[in-house]
Amino acid sequence: MAMSRLRDHPDLSYTISDFDALYRFGSAGGSRPIRTHMRRVRETITDVIEENPEVIDREPTHLPVVNHLGRTLDLGSRGDLGMLSDSLRRISGHLTWEHGYEKVPRGLSKKYGYCEIVGPRGPVVTDRIILGLVLFAPDTVYPQHHHQGIQESYVAIAGEWSENDGAVHAPGSLILNEAGHEHRITTGRQSPCLLAYAWIGPAERLTTPAMRFSSRRRAS
Ligand SMILES: [Fe+2]
Repeated sequence: MAMSRLRDHPDLSYTISDFDALYRFGSAGGSRPIRTHMRRVRETITDVIEENPEVIDREPTHLPVVNHLGRTLDLGSRGDLGMLSDSLRRISGHLTWEHGYEKVPRGLSKKYGYCEIVGPRGPVVTDRIILGLVLFAPDTVYPQHHHQGIQESYVAIAGEWSENDGAVHAPGSLILNEAGHEHRITTGRQSPCLLAYAWIGPAERLTTPAMRFSSRRRAS
């Protein structure tokens, strides 16, 4: 089968452009570190688009939480990030949802999943950045974790959520987690929650991110 590239996949290209718009036109809220992060993300996206990277067929997978995706995208389409939400609906049948962690707490396994759209494992292949989605069912606690060597931002597409009990974030909010920063997420009781995320870091970190929860080890 002939190798395909990003420009052969308009729906993926539009989705990446809509990600780019979050980091190009969204406000940094007066924060210099956030402004710097947003610039890094959009400059890297520009480079990736320019390179016209390979697109690989990943096996689409469906976790229990994906049953909340339809509602989430309905909410997203009515919000400020409606364009991205609509783009995601068009590619949703091709997304590979996974848990990532070696051990997912039992209560979390049906309520959480993530997928990558751009990254070392594809579907749009690059080792310069990861762009993806995290989906939570209502009333979910995503345990404390951090990402070594990776700067992470979350942008809410739909639903209400909180990080480290610090504030309630609505659709459109951007949170920056510097490398190593411990964070724990909770989501509201009424609605599922969809976050777009971007990871920036050295290629070897993006390729093997070693996802582990920070919380205590089980004593068994
Ligand atoms: Fe995180």
